[in-house]
Amino acid sequence: MGVTLAFDIYGTLINTEGVLDLLKKQIGEKAPEFSRIWRDKQLEYSFRRGLMNKHVDFSICTLHALEYAVTSFGMTISESQKKDLMAAYKVLPAFDDVKEGLKLSKDNGFRIYAFSNGSTSDIEGLLVNAGIREYFTGVISAATVSSFKPDPKVYKHFLESADTGADQAWMVSSNPFDVIGAVSAGMKAIWVKRSAKNLFDPWEIQPTATIEKLTDLVKCVKSKKR
Ligand code: 2OP
Repeated sequence: MGVTLAFDIYGTLINTEGVLDLLKKQIGEKAPEFSRIWRDKQLEYSFRRGLMNKHVDFSICTLHALEYAVTSFGMTISESQKKDLMAAYKVLPAFDDVKEGLKLSKDNGFRIYAFSNGSTSDIEGLLVNAGIREYFTGVISAATVSSFKPDPKVYKHFLESADTGADQAWMVSSNPFDVIGAVSAGMKAIWVKRSAKNLFDPWEIQPTATIEKLTDLVKCVKSKKR
């Protein structure tokens, strides 16, 4: 069995800052800070629910985080503004390097899966909207096992669903919690360092390798496989 790649979605292939334009229209110059609080809270809620074993669709974590961010900024937004922002989250753009990076990986014979906290339908929608669905063998969601990354059972679910051994499975993610979770579950993992200011956690668990753009992925996997 050859190499299987598990691509994280939000923040790795799909740019969650893609809602910034709409946010700027609605709340002005606070949009970048608001967007960061929204994303951080969304992930925090997924971690807490995973630990509590209180799973909901990831879009509910996104909605609750949006409502938290609005309140934390002392703002109010209308139901239709909330609806518009949640709708925008379902059609976020892919990063510029994604299409070519996926093509290179597929042309090199790697099996490629989307692997996310998001529901299968949300992820399918994002991939189709971003024009990249064709590169994927399948979409695997943490929701199927009613939990969230980095719960080890989520990575086990990936390995079983993709029918691959951990030694041939590479997590590709910009999210350190996801890279650490995958390595901790026995997979290899590549950290996609999407910005120079992004830091990796100072844990005893580190990425197998780090790249800055997906067009370097094939070269990186091949160099580490030897
Ligand atoms: C994911 O797509 C939240 O980025 C994380 O699973």
